[in-house]
Amino acid sequence: MNKLGWIIYNGNLPGSKFLDYAEMLQQSANKFNSEAIIMKNNELLVSLGHHQLGIINTQTLPDYVVFTDKDIYLAKQLELLGIPVFNRAEVIETSDDKIATYQVLANHKLPIPQTIIAPKVFYNREEKYLPDFDQIVQHLGLPLIIKEAFGSFGEQVYLISTMEELKSKVQELYGKPFMFQEFVSTSKGKDIRLQVVGDKVIAAMKRTANNDFRANVTAGGTTEAFRPSENAKKIAIAASQALGADFSGVDLLFGDNDQYVICEINSNAHIRNLLNCTGINAADAIMEYVLNKVSTI
Ligand SMILES: Nc1ncnc2c1ncn2[C@@H]1O[C@H](COP(=O)(O)OP(=O)(O)O)[C@@H](O)[C@H]1O
Ligand SMILES: [Mg+2]
Repeated sequence: MNKLGWIIYNGNLPGSKFLDYAEMLQQSANKFNSEAIIMKNNELLVSLGHHQLGIINTQTLPDYVVFTDKDIYLAKQLELLGIPVFNRAEVIETSDDKIATYQVLANHKLPIPQTIIAPKVFYNREEKYLPDFDQIVQHLGLPLIIKEAFGSFGEQVYLISTMEELKSKVQELYGKPFMFQEFVSTSKGKDIRLQVVGDKVIAAMKRTANNDFRANVTAGGTTEAFRPSENAKKIAIAASQALGADFSGVDLLFGDNDQYVICEINSNAHIRNLLNCTGINAADAIMEYVLNKVSTI
């Protein structure tokens, strides 16, 4: 029997790249004879009540969902209704939170930059708590990175060069979750993206920025196809699996002595740039993996 899928994306975000990702997945699903309907998260109303849990405005539920959004409650609701969701709500939630991600990776003894989590503070207090800056600099050196727990496209990642910048950024971020992190200077302006599907790396690219420490394409970086070493692949697969992801885009930094360090894991990694630069359409591997898994459930 052919499976019916929903591909859910965020109906509220501007720009076309979120729909583009959903459409790439839809086309690949069709190639594998699965009908896949694209849905906006904000067109599905999650309802909870006495002895009742559902989605209000829909008649038929799908056999599977590919969830390209971060609407965790909706993803969780679909799981509670017994539908296999890719990636799982828990994975999307951890991947979205960079602090939670590093904690999982460190717990799996995987290589990450040295990191200090800023203690949680409440911002409606009159007296501001400020951490011990000397201790942080002693531990991580300068320059260092400040990174918010939630962010994308490099926009919430800051390179801090002086004690003054450190103090003022911490004051500015007061009340938000963030971390202090070692600046992996050997990777300045470059990183590699490995697309993992299941237990395989199916494509990789190197991203380089000319005048920024961040390699994000959105921040002006360029891309080239990259042939990762066995070690890089091993780390990327282990990172993706540590999070419990079915598929993900794993970013690695170039560390000292040709060692790789994990920068982040994107459970909703967009795949258009990867296709343009490697000729490999990750949507095919993702949908093949999803449909295989669904057919064995
Ligand atoms: N600790 C670090 N050392 C060196 N460069 C870093 C570090 N963390 C992030 N970067 C650079 O900043 C970019 C964005 O950081 P990342 O954590 O991936 O956030 P985002 O989710 O916004 O892409 C990375 O692609 C990398 O080039
Ligand atoms: Mg990134």
